[in-house]
Amino acid sequence: MRVLIVGAARPEIALAADAARERGAEVRHVPSFPAALDLLRQGQGADLLLVDADDEIDAAIARLAAERIFLPVVAYGIGCTPQRAAAAIKAGAREFLPFPPEPELIAAILEAVGESRQELVCADPRMTELLGLARRFAATDACVLVTGESGTGKEMLARFLHRHSRRAGGPFVAVNCAAVPESLLESELFGHEKGAFTGAVARRIGRFEEANGGTLLLDEISEMEPRLQAKLLRAIQEREIDRIGGRHPVKVDIRLIATSNRDLEQAVAEGTFRADLLFRLSVLTLELPPLRERPADIAALARHFATKLARLNGLPERPLSEDAIRRLTALPWRGNVRELENCLHRAVVLARGERIEAEDIHPTVGAGRQQEQPKATGLVGRTVAEVERSLIIDTLRHTLGNRTQAAGILGISIRTLRNKLRQYGGEGVPVPPPPTEHAA
Ligand SMILES: Nc1ncnc2c1ncn2[C@@H]1O[C@H](COP(=O)(O)OP(=O)(O)OP(=O)(O)O)[C@@H](O)[C@H]1O
Ligand SMILES: [Mg+2]
Repeated sequence: MRVLIVGAARPEIALAADAARERGAEVRHVPSFPAALDLLRQGQGADLLLVDADDEIDAAIARLAAERIFLPVVAYGIGCTPQRAAAAIKAGAREFLPFPPEPELIAAILEAVGESRQELVCADPRMTELLGLARRFAATDACVLVTGESGTGKEMLARFLHRHSRRAGGPFVAVNCAAVPESLLESELFGHEKGAFTGAVARRIGRFEEANGGTLLLDEISEMEPRLQAKLLRAIQEREIDRIGGRHPVKVDIRLIATSNRDLEQAVAEGTFRADLLFRLSVLTLELPPLRERPADIAALARHFATKLARLNGLPERPLSEDAIRRLTALPWRGNVRELENCLHRAVVLARGERIEAEDIHPTVGAGRQQEQPKATGLVGRTVAEVERSLIIDTLRHTLGNRTQAAGILGISIRTLRNKLRQYGGEGVPVPPPPTEHAA
């Protein structure tokens, strides 16, 4: 995770930089936004920009958008008013961080915004075999396609490939094609020349060139529009790219890794993904099995997360009881490792006894489902009340009417649930009845 802090040198900034470094971030500090912009244009990217909320942050965010530079901005403030903090968020900052920051807050923001440079845990034979294969693929320079359900560890595996390749000393650059707005993706990947479009006031180096000598991860490749797919294919075949508005192609030396949690063959059949591109990408494919198909990993990962999250949250490290492990292993984990991690996060926070017990394990339906379709959540256009209602009713259907269980899954009290159901009943919404007395 590369953090770029913008602002005149002050002791609070140095403290924040230290806290971020301690958590594994690479931190750079520049005195002004134009200096930051210069670095970004040169392709010396950052994964997170920290900008002073008092320092015309709205202009900075607008500038980034105009130059089609896509990067999360977090506002910081040194003794700044709540109004300024609110204005920064309105201008498009992801978060507001009071400086000097609480180390936990820095950790939380680094984790929320950025990638995790974490240890890859593996205990299941299926995973051991897959990692063996990955090591052999890593030694080549060919494209690798990593497939698997959401949250199975595709990005983790891509980093593993990079670490075990001859490019390990070079950069690892990741672009999530589903997260970057379509209109910005071309510039993000290929860069542009000065004057290529309104707002292109300077040359900008894209992610392909930034990854030169290293690895480029294109996440959710199925979300790339066909025109860009053609450009990507050319980049793979010719090992050169064209900046937007550029006159000459630029040579790039990269290893490409692509991930997808959609069936690309089907996308080809539907005409949304180019067959020739899939052909190039899929020579070496690594298929990550869903977590439920690697039971030994569930236990190993749960122990790993219990320790890690306790440390991160400054809580006592509690071992998992045998019952807790049994319960974890029996769950379906539709959100895979990410859902397991979230679940352990809650358990670590909730546990009061000597161990984390089975009662402390509360899987959610939300975590997994949301991640399955990063774009088409189908929620836009609906009110919060409507979405809440469908979530509650669907969960209740899933528990066959069992109120206690549904409240546990939803993370609300049984009383709140009953009140909501009474309200829905009153509005004429059909509510699944409770199971018969002895079954409940
Ligand atoms: N083998 C593993 N060991 C430790 N942590 C893991 C492992 N696999 C996944 N994780 C953790 O689970 C989370 C999800 O992993 P990752 O982002 O790699 O999944 P993904 O398949 O890329 O997900 P998505 O489809 O949503 O992009 C991350 O926090 C990651 O650190
Ligand atoms: Mg991913």
